[in-house]
Amino acid sequence: MARGCEEHAPTKGSALSSPDLEGLLNEVAKLDQDPYSGRLFTYVYETGDKRIREVANRALLKFYDRNALDFTVFKSAVYFERELVKFARELLHGDEDVLGTYSYGGTESIMLAVKAARDYFRKVRGMQVVPELVIPSSAHPSFEKAAEYMGLRVRKVPISAVDKKADTEKLKEAVGDSTALVAASAPNFPYGTIDPIKDIADFLKDKHTLFHVDACVGGYILPFFEMSGERVDAFDFRAEGVTSMSLDAHKYGYAPKGSSLLLFRNPELKKECTYVNVSWPSYTFVNTTLLSSRSVGPMAAAWAVQSYLGKAGYLRLAGQVLSARNRIRDGLGGLGFKPTAPVESSILSLCNEEADLLVFVLAMKMKGWHFELQRRIEGLVPYNIHMTITPVHDAVAQSFVEDSQESLKSPAPRQVAETVRKLSEGRLEELLDLVKRGEVDSASIVKMLEAIPEETARELAKEIVNGMFK
Ligand SMILES: Cc1ncc(COP(=O)(O)O)c(C=O)c1O
Repeated sequence: MARGCEEHAPTKGSALSSPDLEGLLNEVAKLDQDPYSGRLFTYVYETGDKRIREVANRALLKFYDRNALDFTVFKSAVYFERELVKFARELLHGDEDVLGTYSYGGTESIMLAVKAARDYFRKVRGMQVVPELVIPSSAHPSFEKAAEYMGLRVRKVPISAVDKKADTEKLKEAVGDSTALVAASAPNFPYGTIDPIKDIADFLKDKHTLFHVDACVGGYILPFFEMSGERVDAFDFRAEGVTSMSLDAHKYGYAPKGSSLLLFRNPELKKECTYVNVSWPSYTFVNTTLLSSRSVGPMAAAWAVQSYLGKAGYLRLAGQVLSARNRIRDGLGGLGFKPTAPVESSILSLCNEEADLLVFVLAMKMKGWHFELQRRIEGLVPYNIHMTITPVHDAVAQSFVEDSQESLKSPAPRQVAETVRKLSEGRLEELLDLVKRGEVDSASIVKMLEAIPEETARELAKEIVNGMFK
């Protein structure tokens, strides 16, 4: 950046039209990967359709300065939330009893689901028993984060080596009197597989144990895969034992970030997720979410995109995702890549015994493609690459496959070869220095962290992050 922000404090006229400020913002934006390019295979869910972005941005700006903290003052928050919940409930086959809560993201929805389960458990079992959360090892880290924040014990069960889904038998064994909540994914992020939701739900229904389905990724896309004629195993409220579900509008709902929904099977459960304080000397404090003050903007944007697209629009975009997924799977298949798990969602996890995947990921990065290297799990999964496919990828699938072919053939670029050599020689100190300076990317970090005990790795990560934000 050319100059510090302090030199740019607007003095007179419109700050918005200040060329200095605009220029500075443009420079800061250059620090980022372009979210619209189709070159990212995680973090953003891009359609490639500018009109959708415009619809979202208009709504976002119009409602940005309204505060959902008090929805009796800013009633638009209630309107948008109800409309979003209605659409989601229909998609996931919930009945009239199903209520929902809008949150700012998948992690928040999951934390609220865990909080509701913990408090429901305490109501029934009292405070003496430590409530337990049973999850497959492929579940999103936000479940463990929630347990850490809220004092639950986690029982993690392995996934099956055959289909990379929750091992149902092991999961059933882990469920007991102290289980407050069982969770599974539709699909999980690492492999894109849908856990055996119906089996688990049937088992838990008789035990009256709560069951959360994390459909943060799948909620807005699997229903449209199903409508497109793809085989999708029952993963939603059609399975009777499912008591709550999360789905992210800021993923395949194509809304800007800050948009997720949490649906509860009945009003009793939703009550457990709501925080009320009537003893505070100021206003009556009621939060349905972890955050209090928050902008209505993202809700408005999610609603605007939903209304603009409608089911027909989502179906069309799901078709593009399927096309891109199949073209990339088949194209890379011709280069020796194989899926590590059944391909049944919008996520691909591919391995290749012939290739050094770290070199491949880094070489592709030099061509501007960004996707992640995932860890090897001894006896279960080899090193693999992860790709979350979005509609924009249909337009770039061909060039992605061509660049993959070149990257596999060409020797590792010098920088890449250097990182790989340092890793194989165990020169972690040197690598850590590079990480701290932001010169080693996330793919190499996966391999580095394997060489370090978990506790040390966690501490190290915190130290590095502190340094980055200093
Ligand atoms: C399966 C799954 N659940 C939950 C989350 C958390 O979502 P967020 O990043 O919006 O908090 C993610 C994020 O990628 C996910 O893949």
